Amino acid sequence: MRLIVEPAESLRGQVRVPGDKSISHRAVLFGALAEGTTRVDGFLFGADCLRTVACVRALGVPVEEDGDAVLVHGQGLDGLREPDDVLDVGNSGTTIRLLMGLLAGRDFYACLTGDASIRRRPMERVVKPLRSMGARIDGRRGGELAPLTVRGGGLRAIKYQMPVASAQVKSAILLAGMFAKGVTGVKEPAPSRDHTERMLQAFGAPLSRRSGFIEIERPLRLNPCRIRVPGDPSSAAFLLVAALITRKSEVVLEDVGVNPTRTGLLDVLWAMGANLAAEQGGEQAGEPVARLIARSGPLRGVRVGGELIPRLIDEIPILAVAAAFAEGVTEIRDAAELRVKETDRIRTVAEELRKFGADVGELEDGLVIRGGSRLRGARCHSHGDHRIAMAMAVAGLAAEGETVVEGWEAADVSFPGFAGLLEDLGARVRTEA
Ligand code: S3P
Repeated sequence: MRLIVEPAESLRGQVRVPGDKSISHRAVLFGALAEGTTRVDGFLFGADCLRTVACVRALGVPVEEDGDAVLVHGQGLDGLREPDDVLDVGNSGTTIRLLMGLLAGRDFYACLTGDASIRRRPMERVVKPLRSMGARIDGRRGGELAPLTVRGGGLRAIKYQMPVASAQVKSAILLAGMFAKGVTGVKEPAPSRDHTERMLQAFGAPLSRRSGFIEIERPLRLNPCRIRVPGDPSSAAFLLVAALITRKSEVVLEDVGVNPTRTGLLDVLWAMGANLAAEQGGEQAGEPVARLIARSGPLRGVRVGGELIPRLIDEIPILAVAAAFAEGVTEIRDAAELRVKETDRIRTVAEELRKFGADVGELEDGLVIRGGSRLRGARCHSHGDHRIAMAMAVAGLAAEGETVVEGWEAADVSFPGFAGLLEDLGARVRTEA
């Protein structure tokens, strides 16, 4: 499928972005371990989170859909059962890595695999700590790559200093820690998203912080919760940047999650001089939410690196688009993790943005973008990566002439209905088979 994008005259309106992907995954996985039914309102019915639902069902946990909610009929900490078949996570890194942590605690056999992208992504980062807790894990290249098999149970606690800031690795270890004997501790080199910590506490897990370590023990039980998922700031990012770089635009987004571990992009856009406002709006699911308002205006280049990177790691493709329309140079460093996302996003962002005539240099750990030149519409490709697809669609809204994004179906992974929302805001876009 392809998306055809015409230059936008202006984007105006008030919309709601779909539920947060990270929080939707966690609500289903943790709900599966609770004793009783967890209701998840505003669940993201995107391809990735639906894979988590399918995997949890295959492990013997009924999940019902009810409008924009799912009901997870949790079976308790010891209630999961051996799946009859291979668990297929599709394109979802969060599903495979968090499930590995959960399955490490269970004494049965499971095999996990996914699409071509997942089978290229590094798994050793979860396999190594889970093996040191006692889980028996095998996989291609000695356990570096999926398909992976897990036979868990009999875990012992570890104290683990993570070499990379990764919420998926942190979460896998904390989940396994709930099944281990003793106190499991994990320490990150820089703070990554903390949805697991917040939500596990809401389910009643004994989680605490001590000397830089996040610690967890086996709970007696997890209590079911009622969760309203906030709008995904990573999805909001595409609409915010679209409003900033097109003329005469004003876009209002309601109930967007603004957990400080996720708002690095907002900080960078402010540093770029963006006309952007955030009105705090209370809490949903133990997460702060806000109303975000973005208006057209000039942007200037910035330098981005260090501890800011984990706070905006998924937003770098759309930040690169903003940078291409900004005056001056933007330099993004310390972001080598981008090379092991759904695609090598340093390469795919550079390759695709150059098709618009943007001046983009690739660094080993980032990008250098010289902004300010007029971009022309391009025929570009998602490479099967949802965030590349949407970033290029937004570039097309602000470029001159028509843009075509091939491989548009990838956008469904995190933002089903993205093209429809753009139309609601006044954009001229259409899909073609
Ligand atoms: C996620 C963590 C991040 C992020 C991904 C979602 C999560 O990955 O890029 O889109 O839900 O925990 P890493 O843990 O690999 O940094």
